[in-house]
Amino acid sequence: MNSISDTFLLNNGVEIPCVGFGTWQTPDGEVAANSVAAAIENGYRHIDTAAVYKNEKGVGEGIRRSGVDRESLFVTTKLWNSERGYDKTLKAFESSLLTLGLDYVDLYLIHWPANLKQFQNCDEINAKTYKALEKILESGRVKAIGVSNFLVSHLEKLLQNTNIVPAVNQIEFHPGYTQEDTVNFCKENNILVEAYSPLGTGQLLKNKKLIKIAKRYNKSTAQICIRFVLQKGVLPLPKSVTVSRIKENAKVFDFNISDEDMKIIENIKDTSRIGSHPDEVPW
Ligand code: A2P
Repeated sequence: MNSISDTFLLNNGVEIPCVGFGTWQTPDGEVAANSVAAAIENGYRHIDTAAVYKNEKGVGEGIRRSGVDRESLFVTTKLWNSERGYDKTLKAFESSLLTLGLDYVDLYLIHWPANLKQFQNCDEINAKTYKALEKILESGRVKAIGVSNFLVSHLEKLLQNTNIVPAVNQIEFHPGYTQEDTVNFCKENNILVEAYSPLGTGQLLKNKKLIKIAKRYNKSTAQICIRFVLQKGVLPLPKSVTVSRIKENAKVFDFNISDEDMKIIENIKDTSRIGSHPDEVPW
């Protein structure tokens, strides 16, 4: 990878720009529109949103405001948990397209697996929901489909019960929380892993070990986190609404973290999961 527009190849042959612009917790309206337009202006070609972020309208506006051709951009959105099931998923996808103001998205993900805590038939629900994604893929209004927050147990069942291997699994991934079992399973099955919260929602920027390493490379701690994710073969989705940070987070292609430092970062044990556990979420 030499630039932010370089791509990973998905298992169905679709190319996906190697750093995505995260928008979780980005407010809708001008903040979303301006930050997305600024990201595109600064070279990002991949934007990640979700129905539940409630900012698809602003994200779509930012895309149009950027003036960059739709075909040069890669846009992801996600199905919210309340819309699981075949028919509801088809409707929710239409609603996301409408809100985004787009006639297709590049990647559509199931946001969270249904889990046993809530549903005895969770595997069946996940398969039915995913079958709707397969149908949407067939219609041509999405270029690739996948999942988010799926652990090995959810993925194994999904692969047994459906026809198309997910192109992507988007999970929490950052120094101190690298979910090796899930990542290894995805790699074995040719599922690209995407990292949400690559900066640990910003909390990692105070980590002393990371600060020390960053100083040695003359880079920011955020840049070290993003580069670490890329060097692990995972696609980072850093979020920012601040133009200087949006620019900074894109400058991760002019240095390489040494194998020795990668090991130090991999062994950071004093950070952990920040988001929810997929088997525990009550929603
Ligand atoms: P903001 O959006 O106000 O600029 P993550 O991508 O892990 O979810 O982290 C996002 C959080 O980290 C946001 O609070 C964001 O703030 C902050 N952030 C993003 N990039 C940087 C950076 N380069 N330096 C400091 N904070 C950053």
